[in-house]
Amino acid sequence: MIVNLFDLEKKFTKKLPKGIEGYYSSGARDEVTLKRNRSIYNEYELLPRLLRDVSEVDIRTSILGLDIDMPILIAPVAMQQMAHKDGETATANAAKTLNTIMSHSTISNKSINEIGPIHNKTFFQLYFSKDRNFTSEMLKNCKSLGYKGIVFTVDAPRLGTRERDERNSFKMPSDLKLGNFVGTKFEHFDKIEEYDGSSMRVHSDHLFDPSLTFDIIPWIKEQSSLPVLVKGILRPDDATQALSYGADGIIISNHGGRQLDTVVPTLKQIEPIRNTIGYEPLIIVDGGIRRGTDILKCLALGADAVQIGRPILWGLQHEGQKGVELVLNMLKSELIETMILSGCKNLDEVTRDLVTKVY
Ligand code: FNR
Ligand code: LAC
Repeated sequence: MIVNLFDLEKKFTKKLPKGIEGYYSSGARDEVTLKRNRSIYNEYELLPRLLRDVSEVDIRTSILGLDIDMPILIAPVAMQQMAHKDGETATANAAKTLNTIMSHSTISNKSINEIGPIHNKTFFQLYFSKDRNFTSEMLKNCKSLGYKGIVFTVDAPRLGTRERDERNSFKMPSDLKLGNFVGTKFEHFDKIEEYDGSSMRVHSDHLFDPSLTFDIIPWIKEQSSLPVLVKGILRPDDATQALSYGADGIIISNHGGRQLDTVVPTLKQIEPIRNTIGYEPLIIVDGGIRRGTDILKCLALGADAVQIGRPILWGLQHEGQKGVELVLNMLKSELIETMILSGCKNLDEVTRDLVTKVY
């Protein structure tokens, strides 16, 4: 019986081939941050308010002017056809059914031409290619394809080493392609170079541009004519910098523990970043969010919304679009339950005093 996200995770771990499961599940190096992203939720406890008439609870919100039914978004996750044949198409359709926002990865199996038009609340996640003309072309197409924002991922000047992928010699299966790179050497992994370890890492070493600095943000806005969210922020001073270069919001993220191992868990950084940048700017957070209570803690500490990565893959593997809908529905009903039991009628009532730190 599937009662929560972890039931889907167990099934996922058993069902997929070792190489693919390893790629999806692993974190960088010792996977310290991967584990800390979750364990930190036990270091914060709730202080619910009682007798507050919670007969009706409203969790609707608005992100960059897009009205959505819940503050739970879908994070960009690469190569989704390894989990289910429908890949990113299933995820986009589930986001549409649940009326929430999906971010579509640059490193996806389905192209921007296929995904953009499905749902009018989709962001495009940008990995900046060494070939600036290529990046410019992609960004220029996004708006007319229906994308509403660009998620610019900044924590990956190169990919962190996931040792499970090295040991498994992880490679995207050769019957799949990277939809945005068809006709280039990046379409398949084996067109780059033969390598014993993770072909994913070698592929991204060739593709990703490590020379970027903050002044690329206005360039991305100009090319795309879309709002830009900067994903991967962990420090208050980086949040301030991103906003001063014109970012329309920030995503506090450590890439699900997949980049630099032993970095801080994301929950810890919400409050210091909110206190530094003030009440107004948009903050989304991801990393280890699996429960309605996790979401309430993020919102109470200052986030506007959260997003989930791996659980989307667990749902996809389980039952394609329906499985992703199941994941979103489980988290949505857990959040509503948490709100009712904490005395919150709407998201404005989710305030800092609901959470206390365990010492
Ligand atoms: C990711 N993530 C990611 N981020 C990004 O900006 N572009 C991408 O293509 C990917 N690809 C990707 C693949 C896989 C398999 C995973 C697990 C993650 C990171 C993702 O957006 C998000 O930050 C984390 O997944 C959030 O943590 P949880 O919810 O997976 O714990
Ligand atoms: C990953 C990249 C693609 O985490 O974002 O594998």
